[in-house]
Amino acid sequence: MMSPNKLAVLTVIFAVLGSVTCQGGGYYSSPPPPPTTPSPPVYHYPSPQPPPSPPTAGSQLIVGYYKNKCGAYVDVEAIVKKHVKATDAGMQAGLVRMFFHDCFIRGCDASVLLDTFSNDTSLTPEKFAVPNFPSLRGYEVIDAAKEEIEAACPGKVSCADIIAFAARDASYFLSGGGINFAMPAGRYDGNVSLASEALSNLPPPFGGFDQLVKMFAAKGLDAFDMVTLSGAHSIGRSHCSSFTRDRLPPSNTSDMDPAFAATLQADCASADGTDNTVMQDFQTPDVLDNQYYKNVLAHKVLFTSDAALTTDFMAKNLVRAYADFVPYLWQNKFGKAMVKMGGIEVKTAANGEIRKTCRKINSRS
Ligand code: HEM
Repeated sequence: MMSPNKLAVLTVIFAVLGSVTCQGGGYYSSPPPPPTTPSPPVYHYPSPQPPPSPPTAGSQLIVGYYKNKCGAYVDVEAIVKKHVKATDAGMQAGLVRMFFHDCFIRGCDASVLLDTFSNDTSLTPEKFAVPNFPSLRGYEVIDAAKEEIEAACPGKVSCADIIAFAARDASYFLSGGGINFAMPAGRYDGNVSLASEALSNLPPPFGGFDQLVKMFAAKGLDAFDMVTLSGAHSIGRSHCSSFTRDRLPPSNTSDMDPAFAATLQADCASADGTDNTVMQDFQTPDVLDNQYYKNVLAHKVLFTSDAALTTDFMAKNLVRAYADFVPYLWQNKFGKAMVKMGGIEVKTAANGEIRKTCRKINSRS
């Protein structure tokens, strides 16, 4: 006889597989169909019929948008890919994170790249806000790609699209080609960037499950997307200051594996107050894979927000499914969730521009 836990995980897998063709509906967003069998308790999973209405956010984006924009000999996506390939795993991790941080503040509009707020240089832009500075990296990779693209095809390719392509390509290289998806494009660049908007839009590492769900929902992403995108924490590094306070003894006791906590404490110890960095995934630090979900289950993750994925029944079963049941399931869903994230509050020619330089709005170039 199958245990209720196994059955719940299977339910998640069938729900996830069922949603491959109807990405718009998450399992938290559609009410459960009436149960046909009395037990075990199952809650919130998507019904395959009828298909949900397509998301409005980003629906104007097109795969292959730049194919006919720059003449037959300029392959915009290939240029971005070349620059991403030339960087190391750390920078590639930074590019995946940059896409998230760009999309969550004023939509995917490259506001994170601006060196000044707008025309007013007295206000601080996003990139200097606490969640981004000094940890966010990859700016130079975007600059280099933009410079080459601008020389070949001036005024046509947005910095927002370059970030999206770069995040997609970084995912591809870091997963050894396992994560391979098309990224729709056609975004325009924004012209406002405010540090004061970072903390209220970007989820904090000390956030609990409900807060995370709420902050993702504010961007049109559901709990399913949140669990799926959190898998990006299988790459890159974190500063110790992002987790020591709420996760490590003696100041705090968390559910973290004690031996793992001791290792982190040693790695974070610094005589001169330096904010050290540690790998996010101690097993396969430079590979974007489903190891993150195994780490979550083993209580060997850095943040409260990572550990929070086990505090909700359905999220925990999705974590189990990603960790164990179908090895390639997460890779597939991660690509889809990245595309969905790339549709957040997309700007058009009516409210955006194609920047000449990614660090400045055109009127300041
Ligand atoms: C669920 C909410 C999330 C929280 C609270 C969160 C928080 C953090 C924090 C605090 C760091 C370490 C920063 C530092 O101190 O250096 C980090 C790193 C990272 N995050 Fe997240 N994150 C979240 C979701 C995401 C998502 C959705 C993605 C991408 C899809 C992502 C990708 C990354 C990557 C790749 C790194 C490593 C970056 C590097 O090495 O440069 N995170 N995150």
